[in-house]
Amino acid sequence: MQAKIYSPTPANLRRLAGALRRGELVALPTETVYGLAADALDAKACRAIFQAKRRPANDPLIVHVLDLAHAEELAEFNPAARRLARKFWPGPLTLVLPRKACVPDIVTSGGRTVAIRSPAHPLARRLLRLAGIPLAAPSANLFGYISPTEATHVADGLGQRIQYVLDGGACTVGVESTILDITDPARPRILRPGLITANTLANFLGVAVRSRVRRKAAAKPDAPMAAPGLLERHYSPRTPLRLKRSVGKAPADVASIHLRKPAGRTPRNVYWLSRQGALGEVARNLYRVLRLADQAGCREIWLEALSNEAGGLATALADRLKRAAAKR
Ligand code: TXA
Ligand code: MG
Repeated sequence: MQAKIYSPTPANLRRLAGALRRGELVALPTETVYGLAADALDAKACRAIFQAKRRPANDPLIVHVLDLAHAEELAEFNPAARRLARKFWPGPLTLVLPRKACVPDIVTSGGRTVAIRSPAHPLARRLLRLAGIPLAAPSANLFGYISPTEATHVADGLGQRIQYVLDGGACTVGVESTILDITDPARPRILRPGLITANTLANFLGVAVRSRVRRKAAAKPDAPMAAPGLLERHYSPRTPLRLKRSVGKAPADVASIHLRKPAGRTPRNVYWLSRQGALGEVARNLYRVLRLADQAGCREIWLEALSNEAGGLATALADRLKRAAAKR
């Protein structure tokens, strides 16, 4: 199999929607990262997602829908969840809710909840509309590697394993959606931080929003995860990555990644995530620059650590960096 990257012409969109309806896999852009999509109601198609990504079966998938009405066909919404969907969808907020019976076990890893979001990316929405089915889609990378934010990233990782990649350019958010467990509306819990922050959600809901309790990676690889998928090591380059307070004096055989562009001419193997430190720009560039640094053939990558004290998007970024740098 050799992946082909499709430009978003009307004919190509119809073709890819047809492939999805036939149970095939299509990588598509969302505002956060590229997803590897399949018909969420087709267990066989969803199994193929796990195979293509080499993803363990106990790590459930996020289902993408056009709107709240479609989401309610798959999950039991409570009033708080409905309010959240009306306010933040389409957008980078995933809601974890009790599943309905039509959702195949493979999607939820056999669990009683399903994760759902309505993506904002216009091309993801056009495919959802044309295909007319909910789409299960994890990030379109090999399990554990850096998430893709451009079509070529998808082809680099999954090029031999899937056929269709829809090109939507670079993702505008750049880190994965916030995942909120809202099965108990009195005790909402963030399972993965993202652009939409705990504070924003707490203010909107008028209740405290807890962040997930940090725990060690699942002890038994086959056991269902208590908080699925939230492994200590994730989003990782192959080159050993170290977080450092300062990356200024890295040796020549180390790739260094600065938060802001260093002054003057920069030598080889020096990268930066933003011009002036704006977090939105850091988020948009993070995965692309990590991939570049990983391809530089260096002994190590040094990445300027980001303090998560600032809250907001800094929390999401610090979370990803920590996992990317976690030891094997
Ligand atoms: O922004 C995003 O969310 C992207 C785009 C493609 O939508 N998707 C994404 O999917 O990041 P993935 O599979 O790479 O990460 C989904 C996370 C996993 O950690 C998984 O364990 C968790 O969501 N998850 C899925 N279903 C869950 C559930 N029912 N309960 C708790 N966590 C769940
Ligand atoms: Mg992922």
